[in-house]
Amino acid sequence: MLEVKDLRVRFWSRPEKYAVDGVSFHMDDGEILGLVGESGSGKSVTAMAISGLLPRRKTETAGSILLDGREMLNADREEVRKIQGKDLSVVFQEPMTSLDPVMRIGPQVEESLRIHTRMNALERRAAALSAMEEAELRDPEIVYEKYPHELSGGMLQRVMIAAAIVSEPKLLLADEPTTALDVTIQTQILELLKKINREKGTTILFISHNLNVVRKLCSRVAVMHKGKIVEEGTAEAVFYHPQDAYTQRLIAAIPTRDKRLR
Ligand SMILES: Nc1ncnc2c1ncn2[C@@H]1O[C@H](COP(=O)(O)OP(=O)(O)O)[C@@H](O)[C@H]1O
Ligand SMILES: [Mg+2]
Repeated sequence: MLEVKDLRVRFWSRPEKYAVDGVSFHMDDGEILGLVGESGSGKSVTAMAISGLLPRRKTETAGSILLDGREMLNADREEVRKIQGKDLSVVFQEPMTSLDPVMRIGPQVEESLRIHTRMNALERRAAALSAMEEAELRDPEIVYEKYPHELSGGMLQRVMIAAAIVSEPKLLLADEPTTALDVTIQTQILELLKKINREKGTTILFISHNLNVVRKLCSRVAVMHKGKIVEEGTAEAVFYHPQDAYTQRLIAAIPTRDKRLR
């Protein structure tokens, strides 16, 4: 489904350093892969490259990103627009930065339907309400009419997830979707992503700086450090038998009380 090969990205503002420095990994249909690493290790830049969101003029890229056989790296704008929100959706850490503060929630959840389908307003509303229900937002009809500032952080993240799944993408990129949330809400969102994966078969790339969070959700984990993947394996193997020194340090940094099994 996704095949990333020797991906390299550098920003012209910092040409001496590759933000992503030769990253390769693949994702199978329906799996949840965790991409973990400390802040600045290149996770978000990798996700942006996959989604076609890297600023063209500011970056130099090399390598290949095949999504169902189509090259995403340097795909033209039109091609990216066709894929964004339909075959692939992204959920970011800060819902407030992705949502329009002066627009009601409903139309924002429907956005990708307006772009990618010929549904009429009634059909879009029905699809949005159903996605919101799937994202476990209580009273979707009421939330539909609200503005972003009227909702809590956890609800906003559910809104983002609803907007991401409304057009039933095959691949969901979730970049630190729970980092800004408190622990209880964080667990609920992880459960929600698991449910979407299980029920819809959505393939999920889950990005986090927190290996303990990744372990709860993902069967396979790739560890990133300074723009490179330093270790990859099943969540259990990486967690219990880390081979790389950097992974070992990541694990050592997890508080003992959090290390107990789920
Ligand atoms: N717009 C940008 N301009 C210049 N450098 C950037 C930009 N965005 C990210 N970087 C650099 O790329 C590297 C990887 O960043 P990022 O992918 O955001 O890390 P992560 O998501 O793992 O925290 C960092 O060194 C960061 O400073
Ligand atoms: Mg990031």
